Amino acid sequence: MPEQQKKLNAIAAPLLAWYDENKRTLPWRGTAGPYQVWVSEIMLQQTRVAAVLPYYRRWMEELPTVEALAAVDEERLMKLWQGLGYYSRARNMRKAAALIVEQYGGRFPETVKELLSLPGVGDYTAGAVASIAFGQAVPAVDGNVLRVAARVAGIQEDIMDQGVRKKFRARMEAAMPQDRPGEYNQALMDLGAMVCLPGGAPACGRCPLAGLCEAERLGLQNALPVRAKKAGRRREELTVYLLWRDGAVALRKRPETGLLAGLWEFPHVPGALDEDAAAAPLADWGLVPVEWRKKIAAKHIFTHVEWRMTGYLLTVKGDGAGLTWADRGALESLAVPSAFGKFLAEAVETL
Ligand code: ADE
Repeated sequence: MPEQQKKLNAIAAPLLAWYDENKRTLPWRGTAGPYQVWVSEIMLQQTRVAAVLPYYRRWMEELPTVEALAAVDEERLMKLWQGLGYYSRARNMRKAAALIVEQYGGRFPETVKELLSLPGVGDYTAGAVASIAFGQAVPAVDGNVLRVAARVAGIQEDIMDQGVRKKFRARMEAAMPQDRPGEYNQALMDLGAMVCLPGGAPACGRCPLAGLCEAERLGLQNALPVRAKKAGRRREELTVYLLWRDGAVALRKRPETGLLAGLWEFPHVPGALDEDAAAAPLADWGLVPVEWRKKIAAKHIFTHVEWRMTGYLLTVKGDGAGLTWADRGALESLAVPSAFGKFLAEAVETL
């Protein structure tokens, strides 16, 4: 048996003993069913546990069942998700819920194959739901788990490489204990979040796997896992308008496809325009400036693009072709993504 496999096979017992003493108390653990596990796992992709908690609670109050999710309207769904990012995750969940209601009579599918056929469910989510909710011995390999396992097994190849990933997954699958697989997967996640931290911060002194860990033995904790550099982020300049008219602010709906599809935004144009240049696009909306009140700079980082925003808060008059005028109530019920968070806060304060 390869050395790496032996290392991974040895972690289950000390890891589960550590988990029993140190696990985090989380609302989707313990008595949760597959719906709860699924919702939490989708929310936890790209988002930290602490940030997810209030979203999860609010979601479960409002959409406690797969039937409730299947029936929720789009605008409300987007509002519940506002701030979590990657909004297609929420849309896919609603599609999957409709499918579960129609094709499975509301009973959550249990096999990895069926789970993988649901919109938005990939290897990680299928493994997490199958192991945590249904006790099947399948891995759920997210970034935290990759880091822990790459360090323990001393994997020095590029973990972004698909071939390496495949081999790695097979090793993780072979190392799964038949007993308590869901807790084993969550123990790896907790260890990655609490002890086997990224960057220069792993706490090997309190790690239950330190004696088994190849990275610790070789002093390679900070070098592993190896991730080849990704292509850099593109930078875009935007001029954003907070337009006021009769106690309402102008919004418009984004296109139904692409980045932040179907969400609400403050109107904007490309480029970092000064006040003189920024006046020109107003005419396209049939608006005339009455008073320029404030200039606001903001930045937002997406996976592949970074927005550098120059914002203007101004009072206007005119018809505002193509714009929707939102008063405070409307603004609170529409989903405006975090990319415009600074402007949204300003708008709520001013209204
Ligand atoms: N990250 C993703 N899923 C998790 C879970 N079930 N517990 C802890 N952290 C997680």
